[in-house]
Amino acid sequence: MIPSTVRIVDVGPRDGLQNEKQPVATAHKVELVHRLQAAGLREIEVTSFVSPKWVPQMADNAQVMADITRRSDVRYSVLTPNLKGLEAALTTRPDEVVVFGAASEAFSQRNINCSIAESVERFAPVVALAHEKGLKVRAAISCALGCPYQGEVTPDEVENIVRLMKGIAVDHCGVADTIGVGTPRRVQAAMERALKHFPIEEVSGHFHDTYGQALANIYACLEMGIHTFDASVAGLGGCPYAKGATGNVATEDVVFMLNGLGIQTGIDLDALVDAGAFISAVLGRPPVSRAGKALLAKREKVAA
Ligand code: HMG
Ligand code: MG
Repeated sequence: MIPSTVRIVDVGPRDGLQNEKQPVATAHKVELVHRLQAAGLREIEVTSFVSPKWVPQMADNAQVMADITRRSDVRYSVLTPNLKGLEAALTTRPDEVVVFGAASEAFSQRNINCSIAESVERFAPVVALAHEKGLKVRAAISCALGCPYQGEVTPDEVENIVRLMKGIAVDHCGVADTIGVGTPRRVQAAMERALKHFPIEEVSGHFHDTYGQALANIYACLEMGIHTFDASVAGLGGCPYAKGATGNVATEDVVFMLNGLGIQTGIDLDALVDAGAFISAVLGRPPVSRAGKALLAKREKVAA
């Protein structure tokens, strides 16, 4: 039942860096993307076309997209919350765009300033135009396991937004634990609702690791046959509208676990650890990744 291959979307350049208070130079963002693709990542979430007043760190979105040296075998995605965002994104030639809604009303209001129903109305023309331009559209469902404002979120609430996203013909459904409170059985219950409406190859998990549950939750998804996950190199990130939420599960930790399970990812763990060390040095702190830190320490020991 456990898949033999897993696809990892590194969302570090977007979900990771969006939350940084200190400005990160465009050149460093570009180098991070280059290092990720050199490490074997074939899907990279590069930036977001949101309001620079809301998320100043992503204001250099078009410049980052212009400066990356693209590989034909890598898919570059960007967040587009509305038509304005999509129109700006289109000039930068992404392969894929992401619309992001929420399972909880309160989070929808805080994150994108509208209700769930309004958000889906806003996404409908985004999806239609993206499709017209030949782009794949992923939907992210925030707060699928809990909400920083509302508290508990039920599988029925998850299915409600999944169904609405299906109704506007998004191609992919990403189930996101924005604040990292999900535990394996609850994650499976949420995933079941996504799988009622989307084929398994178009369902993914996006787990922030705030409570240390992300790897267990990924394993729970693997048990269901789900084989696409977002992760963030060096465990970067958080959401500016979910205070206290820490980064996504570190890509290094996910790859280490998958390697141990004999699951192919096409990712070179050593090169990935280097990418994590690079961006952590830029940010002036050690990588959050446990595997990354352990492998760096092991290297130092061997070198001594
Ligand atoms: P709004 O204020 O309701 O929008 O924001 P508006 O249409 O009323 O426009 C207000 C101003 O924003 C206008 O400018 C627009 O031009 C401008 P002004 O006339 O005041 O100068 N504007 C834009 N500028 C650039 N790009 C755009 C854009 N749209 C409007 N696309 C909006 C609505 C969605 C734009 C706003 O709420 C926003 O940008 N929110 C940011 C949300 C965000 O980026 N959150 C983090 C990413 S989601 C996430 O991290 C979760 C995820 O990882 C999954 C998980 O873990 O849960 C995906
Ligand atoms: Mg996120």
